[in-house]
Amino acid sequence: MTSPSETYLDAAATAPLRPEARAAMLAVYDGGQANASSVHAPGHRAKAVLDASRGSIATALGATPSEVIFTSGGTEANNLAIVGLALASPRGRHIVTTPIEHPSVTESCGFLERVFGFELSVLPVDSAGTVSAADVAAAIRPDTTLVSIGLANAEFGTVQPIREIAEAVRASGARLHVDAVQAAASLPIDFGSQSAGSPTAGSRPGESAGLGWPGDAVDALTVASHKFGGPQGVGALLLRRRTPIEPLLHGGGQERGARSGTENVAGAAGFAAAVSAVTASIGSRAAALAVSRDALVRELLTALPGARLTGHPEERLPGHASFVVPGVSGESLLVALDAAGFAVSSGSACAAGKDEPSPALLAIGLSPEIAQTAVRFTLAQPLGEAEIARIVATLAREVTPGPQPGLGERGA
Ligand SMILES: Cc1ncc(COP(=O)(O)O)c(C=O)c1O
Repeated sequence: MTSPSETYLDAAATAPLRPEARAAMLAVYDGGQANASSVHAPGHRAKAVLDASRGSIATALGATPSEVIFTSGGTEANNLAIVGLALASPRGRHIVTTPIEHPSVTESCGFLERVFGFELSVLPVDSAGTVSAADVAAAIRPDTTLVSIGLANAEFGTVQPIREIAEAVRASGARLHVDAVQAAASLPIDFGSQSAGSPTAGSRPGESAGLGWPGDAVDALTVASHKFGGPQGVGALLLRRRTPIEPLLHGGGQERGARSGTENVAGAAGFAAAVSAVTASIGSRAAALAVSRDALVRELLTALPGARLTGHPEERLPGHASFVVPGVSGESLLVALDAAGFAVSSGSACAAGKDEPSPALLAIGLSPEIAQTAVRFTLAQPLGEAEIARIVATLAREVTPGPQPGLGERGA
C-alpha cells in the first residue's frame, strides 16, 4: 500500500484500486454474499451482478457477454487460452510465439511441448521489441494450432502491429491468442463482436484511436482486473463464439463449461467497474499519461547521458517509460527511488527479485550485464514537473555518487 508521501509508478505490476471498483465490491459484500448458481433470491441477485459485470466488460471491450470467461486473473486466462485452444484443435501440434511474452504464456507453451510433444516456433523480435507480421506469416505451417502474441510488452512497453499480425494469422486458419493484460488499461480494445449498428459500437473509444483493430480476427484475448485498477485475483479470457476450448478446471461447469468453480461475484463487479471507468476516458487518459511519460524520458536521458530508453520510441504504452542505465544495477536504482518515495520496478514484477536477466530484455539484444540495469516507471496518473525533477535527481545521485570518504585521496 502506498502512503500519501509516496508516488506510485508501478501500475504495470498492479494499478491502484479505483474508487468505483471498491464501491462495487463493497456493495456486493454489504448486500449479502451468495452463490451465483443458487436458486434462491440472494443467489439470483448474485447472478444478476455477475451478468451485469459480464455485460459491462463485454461492452467496454467490444465483445458479447457470452464471450467473457471469468478467471482468477491474467495468468489463468493465458493458461486457458494456450493449453485449452491447443488441445481442442485438430490442426496439429505446432505453436508460434515470441521470446518476450509473460511467463504465463511461455510456461504454458513449454508445458505443451514437454507433456504433449508440441513444437514451438519462437520468433525473433527487433531491437525495439517489435514482432514482424511477415515472420508470423512465414512461421505458420499446416499443423500450426495457435499463435500467441502479447499486444504490449510488460517490461519495455512496445505495442505490436496487431492488425498486420492478425491478418497474417487469419489467412492461415490457425487460432490467434492476444495477451492484452498490459495494453488494455491504456489502449482501446475492440474484440470485434459488436455489430456496427449496435448502440455501444459508435461510442467505444477504440474506434477513433487508430490502434487498427483487426475486426474479429483475434480468437482469444486476455485481460486482468488489477491492471485496470480493479481487484487482484480476477481476470477474463474473451473467447470468440463457437471456438472449441478444452477447460483446465473441471467441476460444476460454470462459465459455460470453460472454467468451473464458484464465480468471484464481488471481484467481477469490481473488475467491471474499473474497466468501465478506464475505457470511458481512455483516449484523454492515454494522452495525459503520454505527456508525462515523454517529459520523464526527456529529462532522464538528458540528466543521465549513459541511460537508454528500452522498447519502441513511439509504438509504446502511453504510461510506460523503461530504461537501462549501464554501470548501476536496476535493483539499486529501485531501492534509491523507493527511499525517495517513488515506487518503481527494476523490470517486470515477475522478473524482479530474480537474479537472472529478463529473457525479454535479452531478446531485444541487450547483454545480460546491461539487462540487469533495467528500471521501469509505469504511470497510473500523470506526474508533475517537480516529481519528475526529483526522480531524475535521485537517479543522477546513484549514477554519479558524490565523493566517497577516502577515495579522493588514493591518487593524491
Ligand atoms: C503481459 C502480462 N500477461 C499476463 C500477466 C499475468 O496476469 P496476472 O498477474 O493477473 O496473473 C501479466 C502480469 O503482470 C502481464 O504483464
